[in-house]
Amino acid sequence: MAANVHQDVERVLFAEEDLSRRVREMGAQISADYAGKDLLVVSILRGAAIFAADLVRAIELPLEMDFMAVSSYGNDTKSSGVVRFLKDVTSCVEGRHVLIVEDVLDSGLTLSSVAESFAARNAASVEMAVLLRKNVANQAHVACRYVGFECPDEFIVGYGLDFAEHYRNLPYIGVLKPEIYQ
Ligand code: PRP
Repeated sequence: MAANVHQDVERVLFAEEDLSRRVREMGAQISADYAGKDLLVVSILRGAAIFAADLVRAIELPLEMDFMAVSSYGNDTKSSGVVRFLKDVTSCVEGRHVLIVEDVLDSGLTLSSVAESFAARNAASVEMAVLLRKNVANQAHVACRYVGFECPDEFIVGYGLDFAEHYRNLPYIGVLKPEIYQ
């Protein structure tokens, strides 16, 4: 790991300006769709924190923010298919319009498990906003109402996405140099 985080990035996939333009568009769409509704934005820690922080500032409606922490764990870098809930929302969900915010849809296991956990809570509606939808085989079907970008299946970091808990603070999304993770 280099002393400067930018040096470990092979190339930039989504520049800071691209992210900010797309997040503003998503915020405008959400503002139009949820006008007059009681909106609860639930961000999934940790990866979605930065996207959610920008997205809520692009939404021009009253809203409440809450957070869930989940972790998928297994025997290697790929998800095992088991999602563990580490922290639940503390807000009341019943009767409210819930928007789950996630940074990346990869296997789809995290979002499908989170969405399922809301099914029994009597929300008025549950929708999902994901910044990146990875192009991977066998992705679980997850109906995301808002998708920022379709994304190739590469080792990406930045704007909340990590490798070994680092690189979340990059202001863009880039592809990590293979020698860093091999
Ligand atoms: C990442 C990402 C999503 C999930 C997507 O989280 O933030 O939550 O993986 O993958 P999936 O579609 O295959 O479930 P991770 O478990 O790495 O934790 P983090 O958010 O703390 O980085």
